[in-house]
Amino acid sequence: MSDRFYVTTPIYYVNGAPHIGHAYTSLAADVVARWKRLEGHDVFFLTGTDEHGQKVEKAALDAGLDPQSFTDGVAGQFRAMSEALGISNDDFIRTTEPRHKIACAALWTRLVASGDIYLGHYEGWYAVRDEAFYGEDELVTNAHGLRIAPTGAPVEWVREPSYFFRLSAWQDRLLAFYEANPDFIGPGARRNEVVSFVRGGLNDLSVSRTSFRWGIEVPGDPEHVMYVWLDALTNYLTATGYPDPDAPRAGFWPADLHMVGKDIIRFHAVYWPAFLMAAGLPTPRRVCANGWWTVEGEKMSKSIGNVIEPSALIEQFGRDAVRFFLLREMPFGNDGDFSRRALISRLNVELANDLGNLAQRSLAMIARNCEGRLPPMPVPLIEADTVLLDQAAALPKLLGDAIEVQAFHSALEEAWRVIRAANAYIDHQAPWALKKTDAVRMGAVLRVLVEVMRTVATVLQPFMPDSMARMLDQLAVPAEARSFAALAEPLADGTVLPPPQGIFPRYVDEVA
Ligand code: ME8
Ligand code: MG
Repeated sequence: MSDRFYVTTPIYYVNGAPHIGHAYTSLAADVVARWKRLEGHDVFFLTGTDEHGQKVEKAALDAGLDPQSFTDGVAGQFRAMSEALGISNDDFIRTTEPRHKIACAALWTRLVASGDIYLGHYEGWYAVRDEAFYGEDELVTNAHGLRIAPTGAPVEWVREPSYFFRLSAWQDRLLAFYEANPDFIGPGARRNEVVSFVRGGLNDLSVSRTSFRWGIEVPGDPEHVMYVWLDALTNYLTATGYPDPDAPRAGFWPADLHMVGKDIIRFHAVYWPAFLMAAGLPTPRRVCANGWWTVEGEKMSKSIGNVIEPSALIEQFGRDAVRFFLLREMPFGNDGDFSRRALISRLNVELANDLGNLAQRSLAMIARNCEGRLPPMPVPLIEADTVLLDQAAALPKLLGDAIEVQAFHSALEEAWRVIRAANAYIDHQAPWALKKTDAVRMGAVLRVLVEVMRTVATVLQPFMPDSMARMLDQLAVPAEARSFAALAEPLADGTVLPPPQGIFPRYVDEVA
């Protein structure tokens, strides 16, 4: 039994600057990583950049730079995005690093040795934007009568010598694998999509290119560079130190969770397990796909000019508000729309009002009426106390179950159910009125609220690490008592609380 947990984001193409779509997948993976750490797991959390292939080469050319300097620059922007968002990755991999070239060559060599790679000739459609091959039957015709990929990407006809991976031979084994591992693909709708794709039959996959140079050379045949997706997927192994079985992180393979967008589920749920099985390596435990963000009802695109950059949003609204909004607004797996109005409304209603006011009201009363010291718990508890305390005590398990299936929006909804109940409790118990009639009971009510807020802030740490740290500071919860296990130990009566400070200011829109 190991308590290791390995979670990854996709490695992002460095053809353009990061936007909220990238931020979203990284955030989702970050919440999982932080949650697992609070549960006590030994977590390895990986993100990084995908730097080879025709698409990146073309972007470099357009920028008038050689591919290496170009990728150095954009990779830096993705690193900065992670930092700005508070992504807690343990490693950042770039596919142009030497360690990655070693891993790719090792995997390739194993696939050759197992008889799964052979030399042939590719003739067919290729979409550089998707870095994907398409069959004639998959193409669609656009408004101008042009043949394009089902994703809308332009396609070109490619004819070149190519190595192939014997994917066709893996159809039955893949179907058996999905059958034996019902949780391998999430959410469920994606699983059905993948299974029916594989049932429809698989063609061998072209895994090398000869018409450009920006890639990892095929061992023993330097005319060829590896297909960028074989190169890219291997990053997950590279970061564990593959092929060195004694590397410090070797024990993290297989990955527990690959968090991806719905656009790349096929690469992760079909090609990747097939490559791994062919190489005799263990397969990841789960691939989970998020839906697509549009912006104010439109597809995000450079040509429309509506690309939302995470850094601008963070500057305006703060890191935690952005983290909260993205994970709260869109039921994970569905598509969702980004709008400023929706963001400001959630910020003001759910953060400033529901959670911020709850903390402010309770803590200000303790400061004013209890000499800033934590009053004792009610003796005996009345039913309203027990109901609320029990509801809060159930949160770690409820959120844990939701996060296990990547239902981040439901996790947040569970927490808000308790926050709203705590607001109703304070209204009903009316500690301000008790002040004159029953000061002991007033203190008891405030203490119940502190215990509830402590649990709420503890479980929300993975979502809003900075503000929840501040909230726990205000509740005088010691840094070493912020794990789920620590919740079992009550706070000490009489603990001095620091003077309360607002955590979530209301956002006043200067445009509205
Ligand atoms: O596909 N909404 O990289 P990429 C939600 N390099 N998520 C979005 C999004 C949107 N509008 N736009 C992008 C690649 N994403 C490959 C991956 S992994 C071995 C190689 C997210 O830069 C989503 O997770 O095109 C998507 O899968 C990822 O960014 C694609 O990033
Ligand atoms: Mg893409």
